[in-house]
Amino acid sequence: MPDNDAAKALQDALAVRFGERLPIDTNLAGLAELAAIAAHRSHRRYLPKPVAAELVRLLCACALSAPSKSDLQQSDILVVDDGAIRSEIAAKIPDNPWIGTAPVFLVFLANGRRQPSIAHLRNKPFPNDHLDLFFNAVSNCSIVLATFIRAAEAVGLGCCPISAIRDHAALVSELLQLPERVIPLAGLCLGWPSERGHISPRLGLETTVHHDRYSVRDLAADIEAYDRRRNEGRPPWKQRNIDRFGEAQFYGWSEDKARQYAEPLRADFGGFVREKGFKLD
Ligand SMILES: Cc1cc2nc3c(=O)[nH]c(=O)nc-3n(C[C@H](O)[C@H](O)[C@H](O)COP(=O)(O)O)c2cc1C
Repeated sequence: MPDNDAAKALQDALAVRFGERLPIDTNLAGLAELAAIAAHRSHRRYLPKPVAAELVRLLCACALSAPSKSDLQQSDILVVDDGAIRSEIAAKIPDNPWIGTAPVFLVFLANGRRQPSIAHLRNKPFPNDHLDLFFNAVSNCSIVLATFIRAAEAVGLGCCPISAIRDHAALVSELLQLPERVIPLAGLCLGWPSERGHISPRLGLETTVHHDRYSVRDLAADIEAYDRRRNEGRPPWKQRNIDRFGEAQFYGWSEDKARQYAEPLRADFGGFVREKGFKLD
């Protein structure tokens, strides 16, 4: 049966996201799910309503059902129940107050520990203690995080991942008693959204989808078009670091990201990862 409503919702969401009205076959299966994926938005404000522990566990199970490279299962989810631990993390990141106010706070862990431990248990050599171990664990954990968000949004919950915890990776690691070769990928705030939120426009598909060969396009033109499209639908950004860079007449996504990354960020993270026992060569 054609699902005209879901097809329209999907097309509308993608038009806001990419500035393009994609043709949608109304007979396609799963249109409602695609519409929900396309309408994704991060949520940072929540109703004062608890999220049942059983629901959190159910979402963890769904997230950990995600595909896993070679079935290695190099990801864990840590539910931070202890208010004192959460407060200590939140206090370090005052510009993300949702860490303290979200009904639930989780930390997604990239786990490069299990594989070498299993090799030891099974009395086998482990000649793969190099960058690939780190890369696999991080990519696996990223997929689990994305799947958790998708599952949470399916039941009406809202999420906000928190990579800002990596600005304090050693402290987080100590508070959560993370063993060797287990590192935090991101935190995640979870709760029932108190507002609808908005769809955040992305770069055009002509910039990010390639066929057969990577196409090197005119980045300046693509970015200019994206900056303009993005600012049309949204109130202007609060300009970063005016003291250093002045006030821009037109302030778009690219100016914001350039200013954001003009400051050193997490320069000590490589040292932390090595300290946790990962070899990055
Ligand atoms: C791995 C990851 C880390 C993130 N870290 C933070 C964070 O520390 N603080 C925050 O407020 N949002 C964080 N976000 C949310 C992004 O800012 C958000 O996804 C982005 O602005 C796009 O908006 P959307 O998710 O609504 O499409 C993170 C998102 C991801 C995927």
